[in-house]
Amino acid sequence: MFSKSILATACFAAVAVSAPAPQVSGYANADAGLSGKSSSVGSIATVFGPDSQIPYTPTAPPSGTQPGAAPTRVSSNPTGVTSHGPYSGTATTTGAVSNTVLAASIPPLPLNPTATYYNADGKLKNAQPAPYTPYGGLGTNGTLPRYQVNSDFDFESIALGLYQEWIELDLFNNGLAIFSAEDFLAAGLTAEDRALIAFMAQQETGHAELLTNMLGEAAPVQCTYDYPFTNVREFIDFNQKLTRFGESGVWGFINHLDSREVGQLLAQSIATEARQQMSFRQMLGLHAMPVWFETGIPQSWAWTYLAPYISSCPENNTRLAWQNFPALHILNQANPNRFSPNDTALNEVVGNRTSDPSKADIPVEESCVNVNVTGYGCGPAISRNRSEPLSFPGKQVFLSWDTPGSPVGPNNSYVTSSSAGPPVFAAWVSQLNLTYTPLVTTGANTGYTFQPASEVYAGEGAANDTMFLALTDTDLFLTPFNLSMINPHVAALGIYQAG
Ligand SMILES: *[C@@H]1O[C@H](CO)[C@@H](O)[C@H](O)[C@H]1NC(C)=O
Ligand SMILES: *[C@@H]1O[C@H](CO)[C@@H](O)[C@H](O)[C@H]1NC(C)=O
Ligand SMILES: *[C@@H]1O[C@H](CO)[C@@H](O)[C@H](O)[C@H]1NC(C)=O
Ligand SMILES: *[C@@H]1O[C@H](CO)[C@@H](O)[C@H](O)[C@H]1NC(C)=O
Ligand SMILES: *[C@@H]1O[C@H](CO)[C@@H](O)[C@H](O)[C@H]1NC(C)=O
Ligand SMILES: *[C@@H]1O[C@H](CO)[C@@H](O)[C@H](O)[C@H]1NC(C)=O
Ligand SMILES: *[C@@H]1O[C@H](CO)[C@@H](O)[C@H](O)[C@H]1NC(C)=O
Ligand SMILES: *[C@@H]1O[C@H](CO)[C@@H](O)[C@H](O)[C@H]1NC(C)=O
Ligand SMILES: *[C@@H]1O[C@H](CO)[C@@H](O)[C@H](O)[C@H]1NC(C)=O
Ligand SMILES: *[C@@H]1O[C@H](CO)[C@@H](O)[C@H](O)[C@H]1NC(C)=O
Repeated sequence: MFSKSILATACFAAVAVSAPAPQVSGYANADAGLSGKSSSVGSIATVFGPDSQIPYTPTAPPSGTQPGAAPTRVSSNPTGVTSHGPYSGTATTTGAVSNTVLAASIPPLPLNPTATYYNADGKLKNAQPAPYTPYGGLGTNGTLPRYQVNSDFDFESIALGLYQEWIELDLFNNGLAIFSAEDFLAAGLTAEDRALIAFMAQQETGHAELLTNMLGEAAPVQCTYDYPFTNVREFIDFNQKLTRFGESGVWGFINHLDSREVGQLLAQSIATEARQQMSFRQMLGLHAMPVWFETGIPQSWAWTYLAPYISSCPENNTRLAWQNFPALHILNQANPNRFSPNDTALNEVVGNRTSDPSKADIPVEESCVNVNVTGYGCGPAISRNRSEPLSFPGKQVFLSWDTPGSPVGPNNSYVTSSSAGPPVFAAWVSQLNLTYTPLVTTGANTGYTFQPASEVYAGEGAANDTMFLALTDTDLFLTPFNLSMINPHVAALGIYQAG
């Protein structure tokens, strides 16, 4: 051990001498023009030990009745039989939860009269309640935190979030259970990647526990699911879509919650879900995050996307109040498994549900999965450039949409609905933006539109990533905090794979 630490010191000294100075005093055009010479010395390790023995004390997490022992989880890692598939019975109850409905929609109001603060000189405007503590904020006046939903809005939002956590828990485990290690390897995913997916499933048990606790005894429990994928690439594609609407569903409501305490903990779980979404994009060989902002969507949108994959729930499971919109089908949805997304055939998706993945089962000579050429390969990577992007501003997008009135969701016990008139706009929701393009109708429930070139801020195209597309009967101006006012105008809802 003594001789080893001498060696280590000698080694660091050698590195210090040969390493380039990390600080460069100045440079032009964001290019310091460093030589890029490697600073490594010696040869790559092949023997891994014996290692230094560092100071430690034996320790273990507290358990049972010991102080600080962690609570058990509402769902353990899976044991026993798990079943899947479509539902074929008849529901004992139908429709979204509802009681007295006071109006057909929420009328817009002017600015809240208390929203007046403006600070032009950067100085404090109010006396400070304590040292180093500027006046203001919510939940900052010493009141005891209460980590419980605090309104019907909160309850329904967190219950929706819990339905989402439950499917993710089942879904990530399901892919690992039904595809072999060889199947994953053929898609470029190693045993270490499978371990990451398995860990993501365990994260969901923690999220399900947290949301259950914040709801109380009426928290919905886990259901039975019906998945669309037939191979590993489609599993990953479905995951990146499902986590996209799961994440965006939460961004859409989190700042509207009555309970700031619930919002606090929910933010800390959705930050993890955001990482899952990015990981699945990377496993699909997409650009890791081709946007500057992650978008938020209304709860009824998240429920519309999620419900078709829930086949049945246990009797008396708490039901939701949100709307299920009719499905919007993107007929020429770009296939991320092709090195030429332009060559995607019509309906090149595995099924009719809006988040169904693109078919990965295409001729090998058309696939990018095992291509080893920069700009064309789409095997798993930290990030990928695509010489031919999945979509581009001006792309003609062919659409078809369902009419309301279809049974959907657990036990087919919810019904799609819309209060919109005939659709005349396509509404593109991504980043901080909602952009409308005219819908050209070509037949009963079919038509097309063109992908917009709108920007978030100059230089960043708004339409990118896995994003949201609705058909509407008007082009109401809305921003991220009042986007849900679009709902009475939504005729159909889909998911668009822009990049
Ligand atoms: C849904 O189906 C499950 C399984 O068949 C059944 O136990 C449950 O009672 C059904 N729920 C409704 C609302 O019909
Ligand atoms: C403390 O702040 C909360 C809002 O965060 C407010 O509802 C409550 O009335 C305040 N309590 C006191 C004692 O000022
Ligand atoms: C469902 O709720 C009804 C009415 O409260 C009750 O009679 C029944 O036992 C419950 N079923 C289950 C499986 O919990
Ligand atoms: C894909 O289609 C667009 C629009 O027609 C075209 O501009 C572009 O060159 C095509 N991409 C390739 C790689 O051919
Ligand atoms: C998708 O919908 C079309 C038209 O409604 C129908 O003809 C087709 O059978 C459906 N496909 C699947 C896989 O359900
Ligand atoms: C892919 O390219 C890398 C770098 O050129 C090379 O080392 C590797 O063997 C190639 N793999 C395949 C499957 O062609
Ligand atoms: C990747 O894309 C970026 C920006 O689109 C471009 O600047 C860069 O040259 C590309 N790199 C490669 C290796 O294609
Ligand atoms: C999406 O972002 C990537 C990375 O910045 C870019 O290469 C691509 O062109 C963008 N796609 C669209 C549709 O703007
Ligand atoms: C996109 O959102 C940003 C931020 O709200 C806004 O400044 C910009 O004008 C929007 N762009 C479009 C095209 O609506
Ligand atoms: C939504 O908010 C924006 C301000 O960000 C406002 O201009 C717009 O009128 C609002 N829309 C409605 C329908 O209230």
